[in-house]
Amino acid sequence: MEQRPVIERFATVTLVAGVGFFGLSVLLFAWLPFQLTRQVPMVTVEEIAKQPIPEFYDLARRYPEQFMKYFGEPNSESYARALRMGRDIYIAEACWHCHSQFVRPVSNEDIRFGRVSYAAEHQNELQLPQLLGTRRVGPDLIRSAGKHGNDWHAAHFYEPRWVVPTSVMPSYKWFFDPPAKPGDPPQPNARGLAIINYVQWLGSWAEPLPPPILPAQAAQP
Ligand code: HEC
Repeated sequence: MEQRPVIERFATVTLVAGVGFFGLSVLLFAWLPFQLTRQVPMVTVEEIAKQPIPEFYDLARRYPEQFMKYFGEPNSESYARALRMGRDIYIAEACWHCHSQFVRPVSNEDIRFGRVSYAAEHQNELQLPQLLGTRRVGPDLIRSAGKHGNDWHAAHFYEPRWVVPTSVMPSYKWFFDPPAKPGDPPQPNARGLAIINYVQWLGSWAEPLPPPILPAQAAQP
């Protein structure tokens, strides 16, 4: 029997393997996730907004004039508007370039950030497009809720190095209106209020983290 040239056999194997792996990736990364998540209901912003987070009311109390000017009364309707705007700013300012929104089941990430991410917390309108992210220059943000106060976030967005001296995060001065009188602190504008509210919402549904294990306790039997 005549032997086919090696190069021809190699090309056939490559073609079959290529098509095979393409099929496998469609199965694993498209069909399987679709099957796993199609039972999970897609939550709308209006549904989320039925229960505004305490930090939203705190923003209204802390910056009353700014809040009234840009969002009016703090209620479900203004909360929905602030959430949508916060998500749009997160995309527009490329926060996703440095931050992920996904706690991975590796490297003890659950100890640092809390429960490993699950499908239901991403099945909502604010995750269209999904913001899982691809790299982490800064920490994961999906469990940000309540980690810092609103005033910390205001200072951090205005100038990150005021609160974290070694930070490489850019300052976002355009999230603030200039002070009314020289010497007064700058006040967050619509963008500033919206992004603080959005970051405080991320993970507001999650169980709080257990208290850290202190070295003294760890030493006990
Ligand atoms: C160049 C990369 C970079 C970009 C872009 C960036 N960040 Fe950060 N961010 C960091 C780093 C690094 C830290 C950790 C140091 C610090 O707290 O400033 C951080 C910290 C944070 C924290 C505090 C997290 C914590 O758990 O303490 C929040 C919230 C945050 N960033 C939100 C944002 C938002 C919202 C945007 C977009 C408007 C953004 N970041 C853009 C790099 C970035």
